[in-house]
Amino acid sequence: MSEGYEIIEHDFDVVVVGAGGAGLRATLGLVEAGFNTACITKVFPTRSHTVAAQGGISAALGNMGEDDWRWHMYDTVKGSDWLGDQNAIAYMCKEAPKAVLELEKYGIPFSRTNDGKIYQRPFGGMTTHYGEGIAQRTCAAADRTGHAMLHTLYQQSIKNKAQFFIEYFALELLMDEGECKGVISLEMATGKLHVFKANKVILATGGHGRAYFSCTAAHTCTGDGSGMALRSGLPLQDMEFVQFHPTGIYGVGCLITEGARGEGGYLTNSEGERFMERYAPNAKDLASRDVVSRSMTMEIIEGRGVGDKNDHINLNLQHLGGEVIDERLPGIAETARIFANVDVTKDPIPVIPTVHYNMGGVPTNVQTEVITKNAEGDIHVVPGLMAVGEAASVSVHGANRLGSNSLLDLVVFGKASAEQCAKTLKPGALKSNIPQSVIDKAIDKFDRIRFSNGSLGTSEIRDEMQQTMQKHASVFRTEGILQDGVDKMSACINSFKDVSVTDKGLIWNTDLVETLELENLLGQAMVTMDCALNRQESRGAHAREDYPDRNDTNWLKHSLGWLDEKNKTRIDSSPVTLETQTDEVETVPLKARVY
Ligand code: FUM
Repeated sequence: MSEGYEIIEHDFDVVVVGAGGAGLRATLGLVEAGFNTACITKVFPTRSHTVAAQGGISAALGNMGEDDWRWHMYDTVKGSDWLGDQNAIAYMCKEAPKAVLELEKYGIPFSRTNDGKIYQRPFGGMTTHYGEGIAQRTCAAADRTGHAMLHTLYQQSIKNKAQFFIEYFALELLMDEGECKGVISLEMATGKLHVFKANKVILATGGHGRAYFSCTAAHTCTGDGSGMALRSGLPLQDMEFVQFHPTGIYGVGCLITEGARGEGGYLTNSEGERFMERYAPNAKDLASRDVVSRSMTMEIIEGRGVGDKNDHINLNLQHLGGEVIDERLPGIAETARIFANVDVTKDPIPVIPTVHYNMGGVPTNVQTEVITKNAEGDIHVVPGLMAVGEAASVSVHGANRLGSNSLLDLVVFGKASAEQCAKTLKPGALKSNIPQSVIDKAIDKFDRIRFSNGSLGTSEIRDEMQQTMQKHASVFRTEGILQDGVDKMSACINSFKDVSVTDKGLIWNTDLVETLELENLLGQAMVTMDCALNRQESRGAHAREDYPDRNDTNWLKHSLGWLDEKNKTRIDSSPVTLETQTDEVETVPLKARVY
């Protein structure tokens, strides 16, 4: 088969797949450390989905009041509903101030306090003194923080001579006897195939929000790295934990930053009541996202939603005044005007909990090396493969991520991956050969999809998947709803063998690329649904009406889900790390959450 394609071979020390915040921070760290580094990306780097991150990046800088990284760690463990690994959380929160000051030095145009320090706003679940006060911890560049971050990191990477392969779609990991030796990708403009040989491949491919019908994620968020990992026989971790952001614009899904509530915005129901005061008397509108999303859903279910169909909630910013909006929230004012026809200084924004973030992903250790579990039950590193950012589950977010901890995760672990390469690899070290059979297998699979001639269009299968996920793996879950979801997702993923790609060409074939993306999404959707049915408790974003309590006796463990060639999920587990593995901070003891 491979005779049919022009194949171009490349030899790099490290290949980073993805050019969002995590991929760019990894790339920059690698080139600074002297590695010959390729960053391959299906979109232009500054169009990666990090561009949409609005509210900011958390770090206990203490610019706007007292703060301590240990309080940040406590909040993050509590936010994760104790499913986060405390060694990883301690590392991230301790590194945070340094990571943000580095970004400032690289050139991010942060908003400023009157005395010239980085401006910090309150965000959900971020407290001082272990839950006593409200922290101002989220460093912001107005409400365009991710945008600023992407541009800065891309410019720095270019300055340091990273090589970018832009509009290249990663097809498969090139795995040989359990080791990752490279990646094969499609150059979308020409249809040429590129084999990247490397000592390390770092997956920075983001989340898979597009498995759902309504999400804040870009159309490109199809979890391509996690899809490749699943096909390589690797597990995904904690996939049942899908975060719903409380404030997606009703009907369109666009994000309205939590920073809007951080600046004093609040939610009301059809009676004009600030209902969060009932559900979370302390944190109110700034409770963690799982709590706010569930409370909004309860209000709607109980008939207190707003609008003709009583099916959404109002977000009020009118009282903030034009000056605060112009200075702190200009982006969401524009988004609300364009997508909801609302002038935020006059009217509330119609919002609804909307899929926003995947806590689950490719499991890694704190050094960002991918880990798996073998038949004997041993957890071990997958040689040659690393993962960072939303694609990974390191796991700092556990069952629920706190807002503004995502940008932090991207830069802290993006940098950590480069540091781990520097510890384990020499620039220019020889690469081992990739057997031709491994490459041929990847091309055969690519050909099977390219020439597929079934009876179902890509969009038909995608629509079925998105509707199934939206309905059956939503904010509230029960065994019956999930079992129906498993049955429907099973039928849906199996229907992929009957897909049809109508455009057989190779030049900018979006039909083909969307079908490849769909294949990636289907695997992740299937594992998500199966793991959600499997976990018989409520924890973080996974709210089971039939198992309303958190059950630490039986479920304080990560889920691991593999998908076999017949699309059947196999589920196992791995322990949560409760030890911080440093003398500087104590483990946050297990306790029930009070808001
Ligand atoms: O609401 C927001 O600005 C989103 C931030 C985040 O998901 O971290």
